[in-house]
Amino acid sequence: MIDSSIFRDQMTIRRLRLAAGLVMLSYLTLHLGMHALGNVSFEAMEWSTRIHDFVWHSVPGTIVLYGAFAIHFSLALYALYARRSFRISAGEVVRLVLGFSILPLLLHHFAAGRYVYSAFDVTRRYDVVLTVYFSFVPFWGWRQVTVLLVTWTHGCLGVHYWLRARSNYHKFAPILLASATLLPVLALLGIWQGTRQVLAQWQLHPEWLQMAVRDGHVHDPSVVGPSWTLEVQLYSTYVVLLALVFVARAVRWLVERRRGLINIAYPGGRVARVPVGYTVLEASRRASIPHAAICGGRGRCTTCRIRVLRGVDTLPPPSASEQALLDRLHAGPSVRLACQLRPRSDTAVLPLLPPDIGASETRRRDYFKASDIERFVAIMFVDIRRSTALVEKRLPYDVVFLLNNFFDAVAGAVVDTGGMPNQFVGDGMMAIFGIHAGPREACSQALVAAQLIHSRLADMNRTLADELPEPIAIGVGLHAGNVILGELGYRDRFLLTAIGDPVHVAARLQELTKDYDCQLVVSDIVAATAGVEMSRFPVREVNVRGRAEPLAVRIVGAMNELVA
Ligand code: HEM
Ligand code: HEM
Ligand code: FES
Repeated sequence: MIDSSIFRDQMTIRRLRLAAGLVMLSYLTLHLGMHALGNVSFEAMEWSTRIHDFVWHSVPGTIVLYGAFAIHFSLALYALYARRSFRISAGEVVRLVLGFSILPLLLHHFAAGRYVYSAFDVTRRYDVVLTVYFSFVPFWGWRQVTVLLVTWTHGCLGVHYWLRARSNYHKFAPILLASATLLPVLALLGIWQGTRQVLAQWQLHPEWLQMAVRDGHVHDPSVVGPSWTLEVQLYSTYVVLLALVFVARAVRWLVERRRGLINIAYPGGRVARVPVGYTVLEASRRASIPHAAICGGRGRCTTCRIRVLRGVDTLPPPSASEQALLDRLHAGPSVRLACQLRPRSDTAVLPLLPPDIGASETRRRDYFKASDIERFVAIMFVDIRRSTALVEKRLPYDVVFLLNNFFDAVAGAVVDTGGMPNQFVGDGMMAIFGIHAGPREACSQALVAAQLIHSRLADMNRTLADELPEPIAIGVGLHAGNVILGELGYRDRFLLTAIGDPVHVAARLQELTKDYDCQLVVSDIVAATAGVEMSRFPVREVNVRGRAEPLAVRIVGAMNELVA
């Protein structure tokens, strides 16, 4: 039995739509090839219609072509319904608008062509079609040229977005682009040449024109009438279907308002407030938070990937296709694709790639890039005290549960105050403040984060009191200075991180919390930069690697004492 969840899997839907789009694109490619034969001779053009009819008037050909159309069109309507935000790239807007203008522009061609053939056994070949389009009713001719360009552009953009994230796309993209430009140009030239030849022929033999018009039933009311009626019915159906999609969107909007909104927190203190049902990527777009998404949210490129910092347990599980992509990245359970994940409750996320990443950058391999930007930031190290006692005699699952709760509390506090949790090592975490903020704000954020971590941890200890042998205690080291911010990584795994002495110093200060038996050791540089008065805390001079002078630090017994 087929698992019904595959129909809810957005990526399966997209694959189907793509497959159907590709079938129609193949038809169009051959159709343009037929037109291009006009450059050879009008006879060659006419001859090609026999192959056309052999393939597309056959039962399998008809089922494939019109089946593909039905699938693509239904899924396009569904896409219009499912898409929450229209804040999409210009290319995507163009593709969407072009896609929905194809049908109204093409209905006449279908009704006067295939319908007339199927219903009345009247075949209208190039002689009739070109004469009607470019001599009898030029408006129809120009409309047809327009829909040719519209459909071709729409299909090619679809292929471009589909292949863009592939590692070797850049190799064959120039050939594809050249073909995509050349074919419609040749087709239009062929149509022009063919039309010239056929009109010249009518001048020489007006009686042939009369025959063609008669055989094509061009003025026959018993053929033209029903064809026009069908055309009008199809236009109306199209308008009604589009209207229904927008009504359905409005109903969903109302229902979702009733169900309430959730908060999605991002680094830098930014929050997107969206109805349940939005993907994280849609939330980013709605809140104008730049977010990498090379494939436009189609679940193909993985550039939208995020680490979920809070509420991992409440997330809906990944679909099979999302899981397959995550497996390829060797991602841990808290890494998800923002374009696929629809959180059901408040959460905090950390986008893992820079928002302006280009397609070529996703292909970087074995790379070490340490010269990105130098910046003054505050670095925080948080570590669990006596972690061995905590994990002893526990099932691995329980340990993971505890650590996840811990990281939820600590990393959530960091994100909520504007910092970026950066590395999770064993039972510790490093966080950076100041990626988007100036030095003063970075240091203040870090100090506020320390207080918030204290209270979140206290909450967690209360909630899990029955589970824990003793309350979880932590040590925090906090320092600030100039670091190099860069992406480090190998193959598909990249991480924005800070490199430089302040990082080692902050780690060392964290270790000193054990010697001083306190919760926080913070350098005076942080306090001075933040403009926070800390003279009430005992001061110590410590020697740390990378500094000739001893460093003045403050010893804070419990971080809630930081509240002035
Ligand atoms: C100026 C441009 C065009 C010209 C001169 C043209 C000409 C023709 C001709 C002569 C036929 C009849 C072939 C036959 O039945 O033997 C035909 C059929 C058809 N054309 Fe076009 N065409 C043009 C553009 C397009 C475009 C842009 C599309 C689609 C996006 C399209 C889609 C179709 C379809 C679906 C059929 C009917 C296929 C069937 O028999 O089921 N045409 N066209
Ligand atoms: C009948 C009118 C059509 C409509 C309403 C339509 C609409 C759409 C929509 C909404 C999308 C997805 C855009 C998105 O996800 O944002 C799409 C994708 C695509 N369309 Fe069409 N389309 C139509 C006809 C065609 C035709 C005739 C072709 C072939 C020449 C075509 C080829 C494609 C391709 C290749 C894609 C990319 C597939 C994907 O990324 O999922 N479409 N179309
Ligand atoms: S945007 Fe490409 S996978 Fe999410």
